[in-house]
Amino acid sequence: MLEIDIISVQPQMFRGFLEESIVARAVKKGACRINIVDLREFGEGRWRKVDDKPYGGGPGMLMKCAPWFAAVESRGPAARVVMTSPAGKRFAQRDAEELSGTDGRIVFMCGHYEGFDARIESLATDLYSVGDFVMTGGELAAASMVDAIVRLLPGVLGGGPAATASESFGAGGGLEAPQYTHPPEFRGMKVPEVLLSGDHRKIEAWRKSAARKKTENLRPDILGAPLTAPPEI
Ligand SMILES: C[S@@+](CC[C@H](N)C(=O)[O-])C[C@H]1O[C@@H](n2cnc3c(N)ncnc32)[C@H](O)[C@@H]1O
Repeated sequence: MLEIDIISVQPQMFRGFLEESIVARAVKKGACRINIVDLREFGEGRWRKVDDKPYGGGPGMLMKCAPWFAAVESRGPAARVVMTSPAGKRFAQRDAEELSGTDGRIVFMCGHYEGFDARIESLATDLYSVGDFVMTGGELAAASMVDAIVRLLPGVLGGGPAATASESFGAGGGLEAPQYTHPPEFRGMKVPEVLLSGDHRKIEAWRKSAARKKTENLRPDILGAPLTAPPEI
């Protein structure tokens, strides 16, 4: 079973995340286990210190090596150790796909303050960013990645693999086709006739073409992108 550890100085941020949503359902169904680890348990001294001033000066505080090494090593062998970092590789659906197939443990490291002492990076197998912007901590980044991974685990979503294959960034590589529900007309905006026809072949053809148009308009950069990254040579 996939075991996910999230190490953070703000473990309370994960309360809602673990009690609500599809992630809670996945844990309840036994598809994975998620452990929130408080970095302060590995902090130094009476005040459980996990940060200190940067050498060479500069604003803010940096996370210290010793608490991070102790916290990550306390989790035992891990298949992957993911450091959240704005400098990391941009996390994408294909990464979620790959990590959801992990056999064993994934540890997520949530930074805080001005970030990590550079030596802590040696603990990580992967550095992932969730976008070109800077957040206060890695908690929301880790939660986003864990959500994307966990919903792909077998049995978590109703509808099985088909439920995610046609989604944006799924098997087709592009965006999902526009979708509609009742009523057939709302404030003059009509559901495309073909979707009401009951003709599944025509519906499928319409969806393919509508998905392509939407991708051309909104995300031409991902047009034709493969589901999985090409093998490295
Ligand atoms: C305030 S940020 C540190 C930013 C760092 N000083 C820099 O300029 O790259 C604190 C922590 O939040 C997390 N973080 C912030 N933005 C992120 C992003 N876009 N993706 C992933 N993690 C992020 C990282 O764990 C980071 O160590």
